[in-house]
Amino acid sequence: MKFKGSDNYVATQDLMLAVNAAITLKRPLLVKGEPGTGKTMLAEEVAQSLGLPLLQWHIKSTTKAQQGLYEYDAVSRLRDSQLSDVDGGERVKDIQNYIVKGVLWQAFTADQPVALLIDEIDKADIEFPNDLLREIDRMEFYCYETRELIRAKHRPVVFITSNNEKELPDAFLRRCFFHYIKFPDAETMKHIVAVHFPGLKQELLTAAMKTFYDVRNLPGLKKKPSTSELLDWLKLLVAEDIPLEALQSKDDKVAVPPLVGALLKNEQDVTLFEKLVFMQRNNR
Ligand SMILES: Nc1ncnc2c1ncn2[C@@H]1O[C@H](COP(=O)(O)OP(=O)(O)OP(=O)(O)O)[C@@H](O)[C@H]1O
Ligand SMILES: [Mg+2]
Repeated sequence: MKFKGSDNYVATQDLMLAVNAAITLKRPLLVKGEPGTGKTMLAEEVAQSLGLPLLQWHIKSTTKAQQGLYEYDAVSRLRDSQLSDVDGGERVKDIQNYIVKGVLWQAFTADQPVALLIDEIDKADIEFPNDLLREIDRMEFYCYETRELIRAKHRPVVFITSNNEKELPDAFLRRCFFHYIKFPDAETMKHIVAVHFPGLKQELLTAAMKTFYDVRNLPGLKKKPSTSELLDWLKLLVAEDIPLEALQSKDDKVAVPPLVGALLKNEQDVTLFEKLVFMQRNNR
């Protein structure tokens, strides 16, 4: 199994290397990077290009590790026992019927190798990664209710993404292969745009990219626009048929770009940008 990039996803050399290293080591690939730099999409694309079904587990602040393994649905069992004419009461006797299998259980018991995405692991509390150490390491866990050991038939290819909102525990990090998706340079970004907008006019792209990187490199921005914001913005520029002149200022000075709401996502950043434009005008 080797990942060589895909038609829909631009993977840099070091990213491909990292994916393949994780597969070789049989360790989860921990992917970090700014929001919108293609972390989630990476898992989808690798799974597709390796021909593996992808099981996804999207983590929230309330997610517990146990939910990924299994949950015992005691409420349904109680209800069924009260209405005991359901299946003549047979269903209630077997606890197996009330074990709700989590994503890890499904991944471990699948008949073919699968890819598993644990998305945004940093959203959960600090205990969450610690609670999954053994499962990730040994690829097995014990179900106390049915007294069975669930062991992976095939080791899944695991992707874990994080936006760095919380530090991850050292013991957890030890078990992963790490890759940070650097913000794409202009050349890579052009490839990414080409994947999404194959027929985009070259002049528009050049002007839009210049504006985009100008905005992004503005010191003091609270939220820098990322790949997905550039793509949204380009989509709007094309849909609204914005003329090229609106993007190019004659004297090479910064101007507030049209539809700036696609790039800047809070009022402080917009104000900062407007101030800069205002100062430049006055300096003339
Ligand atoms: N290398 C790339 N090639 C092609 N498209 C990309 C690439 N990187 C990002 N994109 C585009 O950016 C969008 C956002 O990507 P994705 O949702 O994977 O980001 P993310 O890193 O998971 O963000 P978040 O941290 O907010 O979840 C994708 O839908 C895709 O259109
Ligand atoms: Mg994501």
